Amino acid sequence: MRNLLVTGGAGFIGSNFVHYMLAHHSDYRLVVYDKLTYAGNLDNLLALQDDPRYTFIHGDICDRAAVAATVADHDIDTIVNFAAQTHVDRSIMDPDAFIQTSVYGTYTLLEVARQFGLERYHQISTDEVYGHIPPGQSSKENDRVDPRSPYAASKASADLLVNAYHVTYGLPVTITRGSNNIGPYQYPEKALPLFATNAIDHLPLPVYGDGRQMREYQHVQDHCEAIDLVLQRGTIGEIYNVGTGVEVENLAMIAILLDVLDRPPSLIRHVTDRPGHDRRYSLDIHKITALGWEPGHTPEEAISEAAAWYRDNEWWWRKIKSGEFRRYYEAQYGERLRAGPHPGRSHPRSSRLVPRQRMVVAQDQERRVPPLL
Ligand code: NAD
Ligand code: TYD
Repeated sequence: MRNLLVTGGAGFIGSNFVHYMLAHHSDYRLVVYDKLTYAGNLDNLLALQDDPRYTFIHGDICDRAAVAATVADHDIDTIVNFAAQTHVDRSIMDPDAFIQTSVYGTYTLLEVARQFGLERYHQISTDEVYGHIPPGQSSKENDRVDPRSPYAASKASADLLVNAYHVTYGLPVTITRGSNNIGPYQYPEKALPLFATNAIDHLPLPVYGDGRQMREYQHVQDHCEAIDLVLQRGTIGEIYNVGTGVEVENLAMIAILLDVLDRPPSLIRHVTDRPGHDRRYSLDIHKITALGWEPGHTPEEAISEAAAWYRDNEWWWRKIKSGEFRRYYEAQYGERLRAGPHPGRSHPRSSRLVPRQRMVVAQDQERRVPPLL
């Protein structure tokens, strides 16, 4: 029996991880510890409420006494930390909670892990800590971090603390740095669920700048599988990148999504770009593939499946989009959308769908972005 404390387990990736682990390990117990911020949602864990191997605790990772009590009460041997403020645009509006949760909260968890002599502390990190990566290059785990948004800086700071606790106190830590996840239960502030749910409602899709920024969109289940593998076979003190090795332009992701949802490209609205927008992330994933992992989905499958999930699960996102989200949406997009088409928009024929085989560029091919027709 292993007892995992999954901090931030009511959010998007954390809840998918809990579902994944309970489905794949009959001898594990999972305790979700989550503050239930706007992004935390018990609906994500609804299907597990009768599973005796799952427990939910409402709490803040910055509250050391509460974390310690949970670790003691549930005989925890491993912490997997997903808890964070996670949206770049919100970090630009108001960075405070990002620093508090990722820096002070991670420190608190590390202290508790040390106090109880836990078998493992695993930190969920992101490719964004490496910053914008020029074409032709990919980030390796020992590359220097160069975060460029308050969100990315808060995550990089957490990674540095985790490493320091390993070096200084010998804490058995591992870190995974994932690329953009997509799939069920992603809060609709993030690009794919925002675009999918807007498209379902025939609303404009606010595309920042020219929409040709590149991300390694990966299926959340593949990411969860990689985290599980690192927990089983990862080397203590090591960092593992988890991506697809395939870059997808935002406009190419949208083209697949509109196709699945049967909506016209005329919904695309180019708006003022995000300040400091990282144009490209690219992960070298040789280290995790050497451990025996590879993505189970192509980016096109992951995007199609995710879009279909939002089409089929309105019960989940409609109540979110009618609450706090409306104020956020107005603050983030109101003026941008009212300002009319942004000059960054691509030429008028961009509304046509690109043949699928040209949408994604393989890592080992020439990294040329296919033009939209
Ligand atoms: P999310 O915003 O959907 O969920 C975050 C969860 O953390 C929520 O349930 C929230 O209530 C909880 N939380 C926030 N502050 C807390 C606190 N102080 N104490 C306890 N719980 C708190 O985020 P996500 O997209 O699921 O991301 C999870 C982790 O994965 C984050 O650390 C993020 O940086 C990392 N990550 C995300 C992606 C991605 O594409 N979404 C990619 C790579 C890495
Ligand atoms: P996002 O999901 O916020 O993830 P990231 O942390 O990688 O920024 O955004 C993914 C990409 O989509 C990124 O290049 C920004 C872009 N984007 C838009 O063009 N419009 C939007 O409204 C959002 C939320 C994102």
